[in-house]
Amino acid sequence: MGKRKALIAGNWKMHTTVVDGCRLAMDVAKACTGYADREILLAPPFTILSEVSHVLEGSPIMVATQNVCWEEKGAFTGEISPVMVKDAGAVAAIVGHSERRQIFFETDEMINSRLKGAVKFGLLAILCIGETLDEREKGHTFQVLEDQLRKGLKTLAPGDMTRVVIAYEPVWAIGTGKTASKEQAQEAHAFIRGVLGRIYEKTVAEQTRILYGGSVKPTNIDELMAQPDIDGALVGGAALDAESFGRIINFR
Ligand code: 13P
Repeated sequence: MGKRKALIAGNWKMHTTVVDGCRLAMDVAKACTGYADREILLAPPFTILSEVSHVLEGSPIMVATQNVCWEEKGAFTGEISPVMVKDAGAVAAIVGHSERRQIFFETDEMINSRLKGAVKFGLLAILCIGETLDEREKGHTFQVLEDQLRKGLKTLAPGDMTRVVIAYEPVWAIGTGKTASKEQAQEAHAFIRGVLGRIYEKTVAEQTRILYGGSVKPTNIDELMAQPDIDGALVGGAALDAESFGRIINFR
């Protein structure tokens, strides 16, 4: 089995217009010297996927969309298709972010469709899962993670798992400055890998990358990345600052 390649992804959420987004992408590109052992991904808003992709031409940094529809085209007002995001330069898609689940009521079934749509059209799909504070305090964390994982990956063939990355984002750690401790994160990642092994098989579990997200900062990235089951990070706030994100992608 080959070693899992680290993946650091910046989720810009609903931030940046053309000028500041392009500047941010350029500044991140300057901080990224190109590595054999890690991949870097930026997820700008839909409106600037093309511009950011152009800015990053010739750099090793890849572009992702923050969400994607399962259909190629049709009457889906307000949605964006896998073909469209690929046309705009994206190679990956985040699906099932907790903000989509909580604010926009996306269901596990919908997220499963998005994931399969992304995979079908050749995108790398990043499936986000994570428990709320209430669920953690009630001792339901593992149950929630397993449920989201099983429903999110439903009917996805083992062979398609090469195009899937899991992002563990505890909801209580997102945008709160309250990172999961490295022990809490490692425990959840090891659990997720175990579930992948039960859904598929051990080799699939061993090959699938699991990212941590939730208040990742220059000050905690190194200890998080030192954990055996943490293969990368999905970064929100700190990805909007080129210096901070530059330090994160250059984790040691
Ligand atoms: P923060 O890094 O701002 O906590 O956001 C994490 C996140 O939601 C990334 O998808």
